Amino acid sequence: MQEKRGFWGSRVSFIMAVVGSAVGLGNVWRFPYICYENGGGAFLIPFVVAMLTAGIPLMILEFGLGHKMGLAAPMAFAEIRKKYEWLGWFAVLVGLMVMTYYGVIMGWCFRYLAYSINLQWGANPATFFNQDFLHLSSGIGDLGGIVWYILLGLFLCWACVFFCIIKGVDSVGKVVMLTVPVPVAILVIFIIRGVTLPGAVDGLAYYLTPDFSKLLEPKVWLAAYGQVFFSLSIGFGVMIAYASFLPRDSDITNNAVISSLSDAGISFMSGFAVFSALGYLAHTTGGSVSNVLNHGPGLAFVTFPTIINNLPFWASAFGLLFFMLLLTLGIDSAFSLVEAGVAGAIDKWKTPRVIVNGIVSFAAFIIGVIYTTNAGLYWLDIIDYYFTSYGLALVGILECIVLGYVYGTRRIREHVNKTSDFKIGIWWDICIKYITPAMLIWMFIQTARELISNPYSGYPAWAQCVGGWGLLIFMIVFAIVLSLFKSRDGKEI
Ligand code: PHE
Repeated sequence: MQEKRGFWGSRVSFIMAVVGSAVGLGNVWRFPYICYENGGGAFLIPFVVAMLTAGIPLMILEFGLGHKMGLAAPMAFAEIRKKYEWLGWFAVLVGLMVMTYYGVIMGWCFRYLAYSINLQWGANPATFFNQDFLHLSSGIGDLGGIVWYILLGLFLCWACVFFCIIKGVDSVGKVVMLTVPVPVAILVIFIIRGVTLPGAVDGLAYYLTPDFSKLLEPKVWLAAYGQVFFSLSIGFGVMIAYASFLPRDSDITNNAVISSLSDAGISFMSGFAVFSALGYLAHTTGGSVSNVLNHGPGLAFVTFPTIINNLPFWASAFGLLFFMLLLTLGIDSAFSLVEAGVAGAIDKWKTPRVIVNGIVSFAAFIIGVIYTTNAGLYWLDIIDYYFTSYGLALVGILECIVLGYVYGTRRIREHVNKTSDFKIGIWWDICIKYITPAMLIWMFIQTARELISNPYSGYPAWAQCVGGWGLLIFMIVFAIVLSLFKSRDGKEI
């Protein structure tokens, strides 16, 4: 039996799926912090510039490629030249690796949802998170044992992902109708709650007070580009796969603009929820906002539980809502990463979807077991760092080179212009061929220099290799191996 590819039910379901993938945990725990660190309100300038010169153009590029070829990343690159198929697999593998830990974070959320009912994290959420919950070991090499309820949470997350993509775009199109509006509604509730708390104004002042002198620092511009790539889920093969399910006469450009701006808007909005709450926390503890400032897992599992403890009423309801927010934000980003791989494998081997879905989900679940050990948080941290900085930059650079120079931006531009509401001009080619790769290469070199002088987070060299460089190189080799297998119809495209 061969799998039929199918199409999105409507334009809205496609846009919702794209927004669902783009809007994830990063909007809440990454953007507001990066904005604050890099000039507050002034950061919006490099952010918007990065959106216009790299984010939206690359989104159009990925949509254009997927739509033109009607194939997910691996076979879409194989259509260009067989020898580039590996690049599609590499993008997909980087995404799947990201998903291995995204799933664990969601697993934590399930457990924290239950903790919210009676605020079980107690008076000291930091100790609770590290000791009582994670049973964090002394270092990355000290794996200890598996924490069974985290393993269970991880399994639950994978079960959800498996069922969300069970019928491909048909099921995804339905799920996102819920998982996109729900977190936005919850965010609105948190903003209203946040800004009506004492101290909120100070928090917002921290977030947004512009420091224009920062605009002269190159690292601020790098941060803006990095954030845009990560936030739009570009470079993981997701957008190529999603666009490959668009009917022939679909709009591309306008869809890319709508999705990117929605993502940017939701990031900006999240800042209000996060910083008003931080302002309140500073107010109640009598410290300053910089003392309570946090990001990443620390913000979600330590700072927010502390804030929730201090809420004047309905604390556990807000706890429940907060972890629901994280779950609904994360799930559609999570399954988009898996769908990119599943669609790629189905295109190549025409294997029934349930089988591919089952194999990919199970394999990634097994890899994820490492994060459920006592050293899980360290592994999560190092793999996240390497894959979202290097993995992503590497795919982005290669994508721009292969599509910009080997295939030619003109062909994609002409294809996109045929069906789009508004037309893109030469400026788009310039963004793809010069601006985006230049920024990415710069980012890549900068991070490499930093790493050489100062190994990431002080992890030992062997861990930097196993969780970082070595793993990335292994992914490249694995991608090449996958590309060498014959496709089902034996076609050497
Ligand atoms: N864009 C997501 C976020 O902001 C992260 C992500 C990246 C999800 C790539 C899927 C693919 O959290």
